[in-house]
Amino acid sequence: MKQSVYLDHAATTPLVAEAMAVLTEELSRSGNPSSLHGSGRRARRVVEDAREALAAAAGAHPSEVIFTSGGTEADNLALKGLYWARRAADPRRNKILVPAIEHHAVADTVEWLAAHEGAELVDIPVDADGVVSLDALRTELEADAALEQPRIALVTVMWANNEVGTVEPIADVVEMAHGCSVPVHSDAVQAFGSIPVSFAASGLDSMAISGHKIGGPVGVGALLLGRSVAVTPVQHGGGQERDVRSGTLDTASIAAFAAAATAAVDHLPAESARIAALRQRLTEGVAAAVPEARLRGRPDPENDGGRLPGNAHFTFPGCEGDSLLFLLDAAGIETSTGSACTAGVPRPSHVLLAMGLDEDTARGVQRFSLGHSSSEADVDALLAALPEAYTRAKQAGMAGHMSSIRTAGTGR
Ligand SMILES: Cc1ncc(COP(=O)(O)O)c(C=O)c1O
Repeated sequence: MKQSVYLDHAATTPLVAEAMAVLTEELSRSGNPSSLHGSGRRARRVVEDAREALAAAAGAHPSEVIFTSGGTEADNLALKGLYWARRAADPRRNKILVPAIEHHAVADTVEWLAAHEGAELVDIPVDADGVVSLDALRTELEADAALEQPRIALVTVMWANNEVGTVEPIADVVEMAHGCSVPVHSDAVQAFGSIPVSFAASGLDSMAISGHKIGGPVGVGALLLGRSVAVTPVQHGGGQERDVRSGTLDTASIAAFAAAATAAVDHLPAESARIAALRQRLTEGVAAAVPEARLRGRPDPENDGGRLPGNAHFTFPGCEGDSLLFLLDAAGIETSTGSACTAGVPRPSHVLLAMGLDEDTARGVQRFSLGHSSSEADVDALLAALPEAYTRAKQAGMAGHMSSIRTAGTGR
């Protein structure tokens, strides 16, 4: 069977060799890291070595690493945990400042807090490239700080957007919020391993990262949590991970995650330049092959840090993103719309709507994301297949045709 071309590394990226070696080795062993006998102590050593390695890769102290089942759990724990702890200390603090471009792991969590826990969500607008408005953030924070009883519980801003790859000004966000004594969480799931990320240097209170986005296994991630930051646990049990995240630790996945993180950070400068050059080949090629296509997010041709190096995101006028996706898939090219689609009903990307695009434009999206296994041949295969796929997707048009195409994708 012909191998397909994988251009969806932002959804998940293949295991790197370093992680594969550690994972297979550890899977053949046993032992609960909480057990006191020899097997347990051996597993504990593996976990603590991994904690140190992961902390070093993420610019954190080992005691700040809370292992979770992935980015979604880390976001839930941070947002619910911070919110509950802040409200327990002062019940009037129920406002959450959040831009509308967040991944569902954050957006749906804060919406749940609004629906069930009395949270009030305050939207922080973004510009046409998806960059959060620091002016709007400052206005909200300062107005709140001037109140006799301030009401902001927390601010959450993703480090880099999963759809358009825009990198957010996290250091400025933290400086402003801390100036008003408000804690900040960041979803760094897409940023970590792809651009330089240091938890300590960022000053963040909490930060979510995930294994399978960096060449580690699926089902493992971490919340980096400042040592003095109070969070109320979401799940209760054996009291593992500082009593913040109970549950038996998955030694093999944790070790492989740490190996992937170390490899990603070690190779980051060279890989960032290599992948950004491929991305440039891709964006120039798309512009030549389909002149109507528009690159969304910051262009960043010099890879100056404004955009994730592996992200290329376009709108293609006059077609549904999902039609283009399926036609490219039929041609052996695996891509993504990066946006939500439930039960075969394509919806415009909430990220592009927040960036000010109209609904029709926001439906014709396609994200091409590059990673460690990407090559020039992958990019050239896309460029060869794209014009015909786009012509056919346009013929299918925008209306109702999706009912015959089953899809179960969600925001990735
Ligand atoms: C920005 C962002 N946050 C959170 C997640 C969820 O991470 P995980 O798949 O590890 O739960 C993803 C990936 O789907 C993501 O891209």
